[in-house]
Amino acid sequence: MNKVTVNASRKYEVLIGAGLLGNIGNKLSNLITGMKVMLVSDDSVYALYGDKVENALTESGYSVSQFIIPHGEQSKNLSNYSLLVEKMFEAKLTRNDVVIALGGGVVGDLAGFAAATYQRGTGFVVVPTSLLAAVDSSVGGKTAVDLEHGKNQVGAFYQPMLVLCDTDTLKTLPYEEYINGCAEVIKYSMITDEGLFDLIDNTPIKDNYEKIITKCVSIKRDFVEEDEFDLGKRMMLNFGHTFGHAIEACSHYTIPHGKAVAIGMASITKAAVVHGYCLDETQEKLTGLIEKYDLPTELTFKAQELLDAALSDKKNGHGLMRIIVPKSIGKCTIKEIYKDDCIDWLVHGGAR
Ligand SMILES: NC(=O)c1ccc[n+]([C@@H]2O[C@H](COP(=O)([O-])OP(=O)(O)OC[C@H]3O[C@@H](n4cnc5c(N)ncnc54)[C@H](O)[C@@H]3O)[C@@H](O)[C@H]2O)c1
Ligand SMILES: [Zn+2]
Repeated sequence: MNKVTVNASRKYEVLIGAGLLGNIGNKLSNLITGMKVMLVSDDSVYALYGDKVENALTESGYSVSQFIIPHGEQSKNLSNYSLLVEKMFEAKLTRNDVVIALGGGVVGDLAGFAAATYQRGTGFVVVPTSLLAAVDSSVGGKTAVDLEHGKNQVGAFYQPMLVLCDTDTLKTLPYEEYINGCAEVIKYSMITDEGLFDLIDNTPIKDNYEKIITKCVSIKRDFVEEDEFDLGKRMMLNFGHTFGHAIEACSHYTIPHGKAVAIGMASITKAAVVHGYCLDETQEKLTGLIEKYDLPTELTFKAQELLDAALSDKKNGHGLMRIIVPKSIGKCTIKEIYKDDCIDWLVHGGAR
């Protein structure tokens, strides 16, 4: 088992290894004084791991209530948020008790937002079961639900008390979800870690989960500790995401996040070559790795369409927008460009 400590507004541990689910009860006793748990999961994950987690909790004396949502992004909404906090109230949870998110990023974001706001903040533990949640959403404290026409528009920064990543759970992850998470791993390697890039280029990510998740979480930890509230350096984690979010929106969310980020990384790197930030060789290596993980690289939308979508992204302020530009494998820089120049970057990235 590996351990990464995150020193944000709350200090917590991220535990990564095989067979951790069965220890969850023991781990909780050091963190909270209450004995009530609201276990939040989705139907697919709950069917696979619900019993194991509940048994471990009840064996340690906790009383467990459940809130199970249908799997998928559509469940990350205000109505489920409202049902969840009502259920927490009915179960008489207090600030000394805990919400446990067992699942992917959808469950984590919804449960985290409920934990952040219920009685102005109750205990929160994340048990990520998707690769994307393990390397990205479970760490860093961003919680949110979607509005009908805007992803993650209502949320809070709220750090968990513990992240327990049992790598055994990733064995049941569907292939499409696996490659979605791989796109984020590729992102981490591109922004800071050439060694990680070479590792995942030579060996499939799934053969090295413990090591790779630990590396990614450590990278994210460093950015979060320096810029918890996403006002500066943390934006580096958005490599591939400015175009990626626009691609998701233009596809009406039929292109999943990981695939959109893969295209976003490939296209900004293509444009970065034209603008003299990196060499052809960097782009070729990145494209080769993305394709190795069955992820797409080609931008097929119109530049203007993509720009309109990018401008509606909450992360962009007035006049200027920030893009993350690669300089070489393992090195990126944050660049501010005028929104008008964005069309140029998109076209050089392959947009029509
Ligand atoms: N908070 C953050 O910092 C942050 C960062 C990135 C993404 N996100 C959010 O995360 C969400 C995406 O997360 P995701 O990709 O994990 O999606 P998800 O939670 O929808 O999980 C993907 C699918 O995989 C299934 N699944 C998960 N674990 C499984 C397992 N072990 N075995 C079998 N099936 C399993 C789920 O049931 C679901 O159908 C988005 O809503 C996104 O906005 C948040
Ligand atoms: Zn992402």
